[in-house]
Amino acid sequence: MRLFEEKVSISESEIDQAIDFCITQDKKILPGFTHKFKKAYSVDNFYEGTENRDWTTGFWTGELWLDYENSGDEAFKEAANIQIDSFLDRIQQLEDVDHHDMGFLFSPSCVAGYKLTGNENGKKAALLAADHLISRYHPVGEYIQAWGSMDSPDNCRLIIDCLLNLPLLYWASEITADVKYRDIAEKYIHTALKNVIREDYSTWHTFYFDLNTGEPSHGATCQGYRDGSAWARGQAWGIYGIALSYGYTRKEEYLDLFRKVTDFFLLALPEDMVPYWDLEFKEGTEQPRDSSSASIAACGMLEMAKFLEEEEKAYYNGLAGKILKSLYDNYAVKDHKTSNGLVLHSTYSNRSPYNTCNHYGVDECNTWGDYFYLEALTRLKKDWKLYW
Ligand code: GLY
Repeated sequence: MRLFEEKVSISESEIDQAIDFCITQDKKILPGFTHKFKKAYSVDNFYEGTENRDWTTGFWTGELWLDYENSGDEAFKEAANIQIDSFLDRIQQLEDVDHHDMGFLFSPSCVAGYKLTGNENGKKAALLAADHLISRYHPVGEYIQAWGSMDSPDNCRLIIDCLLNLPLLYWASEITADVKYRDIAEKYIHTALKNVIREDYSTWHTFYFDLNTGEPSHGATCQGYRDGSAWARGQAWGIYGIALSYGYTRKEEYLDLFRKVTDFFLLALPEDMVPYWDLEFKEGTEQPRDSSSASIAACGMLEMAKFLEEEEKAYYNGLAGKILKSLYDNYAVKDHKTSNGLVLHSTYSNRSPYNTCNHYGVDECNTWGDYFYLEALTRLKKDWKLYW
């Protein structure tokens, strides 16, 4: 099955223009966002600054590293290095880290800084974060618990998003030559994929286990529309997460899962290839989009394409280029006066009658939407070395 064959890919000059805008936009806001981070989501398309809290601050530091790679401007590097010190302090003081999002926080910030510039504080912080992440592993059940205290039966669940936390563990094993991190990553992904992927290759956002026996219990949504639907970003985390773990493990079974989970996502897209916040909603609905899911899925396709034979490589690279064309034409910020972010029309957390999430960041910019848009553009521009 080949989808969206009629669509046009983003051109080289559009990629250059898009990246140039990101660099100018971020340089403009840098003075206010060096000792502060972008908040998770904008309000009326403008971000406020925040302290280094929440699961999302690593994306802003990662965006600065991408700006630095694309421009060579030392101002971005200096700001990112200042932020790495803040991440070291955060993990040493254990500030707001009572959750599993260590990869989201420490890969694009600290691992990236170590890989690009040899920043030793980045390495130290990221290794501490990897140790913290494996402290959330349940050997009985073989999963990493997402949120909350580890001894309450109500908290015993994994979430699909955690696939993006695993590269921190693969990296930690490479750096320390200690296989314990990688072992846990491999056990986690095995458990996660066995349980969150449904028969039709849509995905559960979260999945519960029995605290004492570790037996899988049931799936449930948190940020999706309803339990049986497919939350767009969860599906996108699945696409990118499977591709990343394939790169580290080369396990054949991930290839086929990647194709099928990606097909489910693609088949649910509206005409312009940018999903509504839940894949249940189709062309013509009044529901808000989640543009960040489109960028995340595009990064996943570009990552997996690296390992595929010619025809399939061209197919997934092509799809990513087409998604980026749509994002650039219709979702990217083009005028500094309208927003201090990069991409509009994302949805963080949309309350529905059937879910349990808080309501915020709906039809706004969010910091991972900006980051993954620039990561995807950078991947299209050059042979990009992974921060993940
Ligand atoms: N990991 C949380 C989210 O994607 O909103």
